[in-house]
Amino acid sequence: MGIGDLFKFKEGKTTFVFVGGKGGVGKTSISAATAIWLAKHNRKTLIVSTDPAHSLSDSFETYIGPDPKLIMSNLYCVEIDPEVAMARQQEELKNKRSLIDSQQAMGLDMLEDQLDLASSAPGADEAAAFEIFLQVMTTNEYDVVVFDTAPTGHTLRFLSFPDLMESWVGKILKVKSKLSTVKSTFKNLMPFSDDENTEQLELEETKRKIEEARKVMSDPEQTTFKMIVIPEEMSIYESERGIEVLKKYNMNVDSVIVNQVMPDIDNCDFCQSRYKLQQKRIGLINQKFHDKTIFQIPLFKEEIKGLNKLEELGQVLYENKSINQVEKDAILL
Ligand SMILES: Nc1ncnc2c1ncn2[C@@H]1O[C@H](COP(=O)(O)OP(=O)(O)OP(=O)(O)O)[C@@H](O)[C@H]1O
Ligand SMILES: [Mg+2]
Repeated sequence: MGIGDLFKFKEGKTTFVFVGGKGGVGKTSISAATAIWLAKHNRKTLIVSTDPAHSLSDSFETYIGPDPKLIMSNLYCVEIDPEVAMARQQEELKNKRSLIDSQQAMGLDMLEDQLDLASSAPGADEAAAFEIFLQVMTTNEYDVVVFDTAPTGHTLRFLSFPDLMESWVGKILKVKSKLSTVKSTFKNLMPFSDDENTEQLELEETKRKIEEARKVMSDPEQTTFKMIVIPEEMSIYESERGIEVLKKYNMNVDSVIVNQVMPDIDNCDFCQSRYKLQQKRIGLINQKFHDKTIFQIPLFKEEIKGLNKLEELGQVLYENKSINQVEKDAILL
């Protein structure tokens, strides 16, 4: 069985693939190669970067930006930019606020402070980015969405957002219902009173989307997580801890991809000792992740950048070709 066989597709539903692991192990390269390979196999694919230090643009050697951009047939790319997302949200809020007078706005601030809402709010920039994430998770617009994630710690925080947001939205809804009981007393201080129903509906819609996203994320038929490791202890241990935390979120890690595996080169003591060390670590990987499907990717001679090189990486990973074979194919083309 090849790693490509692990992809499951449900008619009319998006398949989600998260690619994660420690910093620098090859998450962006493997996500990009995966997305290209899927697009070439006629799947309408979106690759999303949730890493604030965006490198998808560097990997594809073209500017991507905060809105989905078609970069080849069937392949769309987007880099979720928390700052842009937050700026857009603030603009919307400003437009709303300009509809009410400043006295009313002060009233809102005062009430929010009093009810300690602000302090329990998730980071505004992360929350704005999460809105976009929710949209992708709940619209079934693509056949496949590949998430190029940030290094483990940041990603785990991002994936804890459904819980965080749900409790926050729940709190707002509770506060709003309390407010409505004192509404008549503070009638003049109540902002957005005309829009209150719309606001309530929006919040309930967000809550519904969070529940849906959580369901999708924990359904192994729809969402899988590919853990990328390199044959080094620190990467292995971090991934092991990551898999444990993902389990708590009911996320299914179906495969471990061992990247940058060195070839066995004679007449080079340095290469030989690196090779032997790596083989020892691969033994550890096989032992620790024995319940996952494990694949290996060799270390390429060059950096993996640009569509052609990424396509070669996809062939090595999904078509079991050797680097020599894909390089020969590339020359023949
Ligand atoms: N198999 C490989 N052979 C050679 N170079 C590789 C291989 N895999 C990745 N690289 C190179 O390693 C570097 C890091 O890869 P990449 O950016 O994909 O890692 P990352 O896990 O996304 O990093 P970050 O945690 O910073 O987001 C890049 O320069 C990439 O070209
Ligand atoms: Mg990256």
